[in-house]
Amino acid sequence: MSILVAENLSKVYGSRLGKRYEALRQFNLTVEKGEFIAVMGPSGSGKTTLLNLLSSIDTATSGKITINGSAITSFSKNKLAKFRRKNMGFIFQDYNLLDTLTIGENILLPLTLNKVKVSEMKNKLSTISKQLGIGSIIDKRTFEVSGGQMQRTAIARALIHDPAIIFADEPTGNLDSKASLQVMESLSTLQKVSKTTTVMVTHDPFAASFSGRVVFIKDGKLFNEIHRGDNRQTFFQDILNVQSLLGGNTDDLQTIRF
Ligand SMILES: Nc1ncnc2c1ncn2[C@@H]1O[C@H](COP(=O)(O)OP(=O)(O)OP(=O)(O)O)[C@@H](O)[C@H]1O
Ligand SMILES: [Mg+2]
Repeated sequence: MSILVAENLSKVYGSRLGKRYEALRQFNLTVEKGEFIAVMGPSGSGKTTLLNLLSSIDTATSGKITINGSAITSFSKNKLAKFRRKNMGFIFQDYNLLDTLTIGENILLPLTLNKVKVSEMKNKLSTISKQLGIGSIIDKRTFEVSGGQMQRTAIARALIHDPAIIFADEPTGNLDSKASLQVMESLSTLQKVSKTTTVMVTHDPFAASFSGRVVFIKDGKLFNEIHRGDNRQTFFQDILNVQSLLGGNTDDLQTIRF
């Protein structure tokens, strides 16, 4: 069953000042239920644009998006906000945690917004924080934990309301290799266990190798896509090979950290 279908998706930025830029061109994508896909491509190729449209953070110039059978591109703002809260989970590069709340309170936010019972919230928090290896830090504040722990908190928050689909933009972008490994192992295991569908944008071939399919974008258009076999190491090598075919500096910003 397809959980996400994007048809002829286009995005044109900034027509007011006369300069138009077509960041996404007639893009098509179908994602099956339970799939974990990665979106890769050179800087400026349209990855974040695509993710923002699919996740309804931004609106498409033209085209249609169907999620879980609903054509969200024709939803009103209000309906969209409700749909998003119930059906989507988000993970960002800079975690987007609230520093006035504890780790546990951050994880519970989607349930608080959906008015779930306190006893049920406690159970869910306990289960998911243990699964992610952050059970011992739920009473800490964000500034008392590591980047990897913050990102695992964000993963817990993205998953706690059992969303149909999770959107992640560069989830390992701020992490060192050890924390990246933990975060990607957690994300891929949990998304399998909960049968959630995940769409992840990344520059990082290592992170992408945890997915089941990598979609490569170039100049706002599909360049290629590859599927994973049994072996993650082999898939990692395949990803590197397509990246070199893609040309350009696929990870030009990756090595420069300010
Ligand atoms: N709000 C905006 N207004 C005008 N142009 C934009 C805007 N956002 C993005 N663009 C342009 O659209 C193109 C695609 O940008 P996008 O952020 O989707 O790229 P990306 O693939 O995510 O790149 P990166 O890997 O650097 O994050 C770029 O040329 C960018 O300059
Ligand atoms: Mg981006």
